[in-house]
Amino acid sequence: MDRTLVICKPDAVERGLVGEIMARLERKGLRLVAGELRTIDDATAGRHYEEHVGKGFYGDLVAFITRSPSFVFVVEGPEDTWKVVRAMMGVTNPMEAAPGTIRGDYGLLLTENLVHGSDGPESATREIGIFFPRL
Ligand code: RTP
Ligand code: MG
Repeated sequence: MDRTLVICKPDAVERGLVGEIMARLERKGLRLVAGELRTIDDATAGRHYEEHVGKGFYGDLVAFITRSPSFVFVVEGPEDTWKVVRAMMGVTNPMEAAPGTIRGDYGLLLTENLVHGSDGPESATREIGIFFPRL
């Protein structure tokens, strides 16, 4: 089985969309294997988004992801689970995300784009290690 990390970001929790997002992934056939509501701190945000350190949007990204609790979870599927989740999320900018995707159906803002999904198998392993080191 193949696992990936998903985050319902603070806007999703604030807007009460966690159940909707989880339901979509579950109905697709992915299985929840771990999950936790937690406020991501600056250090953890820095590890998680290390590829973006120094970019122009990094400050806004960290301020957003740390502002209130996120629901961080791991789902499992038969293969390339990260790819299935990314397709269901839609592209980064919700203004451009296709209808039928999570960002396409519920988002309008680039920073407040509701969900994170690992962008490859190595990212999935690395990110699961950050949030669920005992998995
Ligand atoms: P994520 O990591 O959160 O799942 O999003 P992603 O892979 O679709 O996008 P990524 O390139 O990893 O960017 C991380 C988050 O930074 C914000 N962003 N802002 N102003 C900008 O040009 C810009 N580019 C990216 C987005 O909120 C994105 O989710
Ligand atoms: Mg990313």
